[in-house]
Parts: sequence; C-alpha cells; structure tokens
Amino acid sequence: MSTLAIIGGTGLDALGILHVDKRELINTPFGEPSGPITRGSLFGQEVLFLPRHGYNHNFPPHQVNYRANLWALREAGADKVLAVAAVGGIRADMGPGRLIIPDQIIDYTWGRPSTFFERGSGGRSESVTHIDFTEPYCEELRQQLLKAAFAGNITVVDGGTYAATQGPRLETAAEIERLERDGCHLVGMTGMPEAALARELELCYACCAVVANWAAGKNGGTITMTDIEKNLKGGMQQVGELLESHLMSFN
Ligand code: HPA
Repeated sequence: MSTLAIIGGTGLDALGILHVDKRELINTPFGEPSGPITRGSLFGQEVLFLPRHGYNHNFPPHQVNYRANLWALREAGADKVLAVAAVGGIRADMGPGRLIIPDQIIDYTWGRPSTFFERGSGGRSESVTHIDFTEPYCEELRQQLLKAAFAGNITVVDGGTYAATQGPRLETAAEIERLERDGCHLVGMTGMPEAALARELELCYACCAVVANWAAGKNGGTITMTDIEKNLKGGMQQVGELLESHLMSFN
C-alpha cells in the first residue's frame, strides 16, 4: 500500500473530483509549501494533493518553493508523486491536448534552490551527496500510468525529453529550435528542480504532461493565454480519467 501525492499544475489548481478530508499546513526546514496539503480520497483511494502554484495560482514557476512542496508531501506520508504539468509541444505527435509521460529531462533553469544537500540547511545531510539521475523519472510509476492509460482507453505518448525552462515568459522560436536540436520534445517551466528533489527524497516521481500549446514557432502564430486555457481544459479532463484508471488498478 502506497500513498500517492498529486502535484497539480496550471489548469489543475483544484482537484474538483477529490473528496476532501482535511487540509494540513506543514512547515518545513525550507519554508512554506505552496499551500496546505489536501488529504482526501479519489475513486476510493487515499491521496494527497498540492497545487504547485498555490490554490490561487499565485506562485510563478521560478518562485515555487519546490523544496518545501516535496518535503511537506513526504512529511504527510507520500511515497509516490504524480506531477501534472502544462507544457508546450515540440514534436509533431505532441499537439495541444495530448498527454505525455516523459522519460528524460534537460534542465535549463537557473537560480532556483535545487537541492536538499546544502550545508547548514537543516536538510538531508551535511556531507556531499550525489544522487544517480540517469533515469530522472520513476519507471515503476511511469509503467503504471501507461498501463492505466491503455486500460482506460486514454491516448498518451510514452516517453519524451522534457526541456525545463526558466519562464515565466514563453520561449522564442529560436530557443525552441535550439531545444529541438538538443533532443527535447516538450517544454515546460516546472519540471526542474522538482524531479531531482523528489529523487533526493527517494520519492517515486513521474510526470503527466499536458500539452497546452504548440511550442513557439511550431504553429506560425503567437501563443495566447485563451488558447492555452482552452486546450488545458480538455487535457485536464483526460488527466482525471487517467487518475481514475490508475487508482482503480494500482495503489
Ligand atoms: N513553454 C514553456 N512552458 C509552457 C509552455 C511553453 O510553450 N506551455 C505551457 N507551459
């Protein structure tokens, strides 16, 4: 029996289908998380929920306290974390509305507190530690999500390299071309340091990315928030179905 935590991304600041039991405000050696952790049940299973950007969507990607969020979720009892994240699609099969379960990530972010292993931080250790990060996502949870998608007849893309950019602005067309040359297939602003911090805490962490828009330059025109919101609505509906199928089969 494991406890699944869901980190909601843009478009999933509230998990309407969750039956809320209580909200726990957990302080951490790294400060406060984006909000209280919601403890509740989803399709008959106990889950934890935390909206990455806060319940009122008030923390931009570069100012999310990723360390506090993951620390608090572990403190609340999570051993598995499903990170839901809005992304831009780069590869041709990753158009708006598509769900992707990435298997690799490249970090282009800067200036974000990105480790628990810091001297005097009250964190994990005072000695130098290097985590293995060859496979940045938990393969067990990735495979469970893929099986759940298959069982629930939900189309998902298996694998892909997530480019984690700094934001909060979107990229230029030239930046997206460079990311593509680097081997990236999808682009988002929150994948790092979240994935690495989860590994440092030995949490089984996987991502379900929801394509909100074609990445800059991939579809000619400009990217509007109206389009992003419209595409995310449909995508998040599918995330709900994927969660249902996952919680019915696993956990
Ligand atoms: N780029 C980066 N992050 C994003 C995008 C994008 O195009 N869409 C949603 N999050």
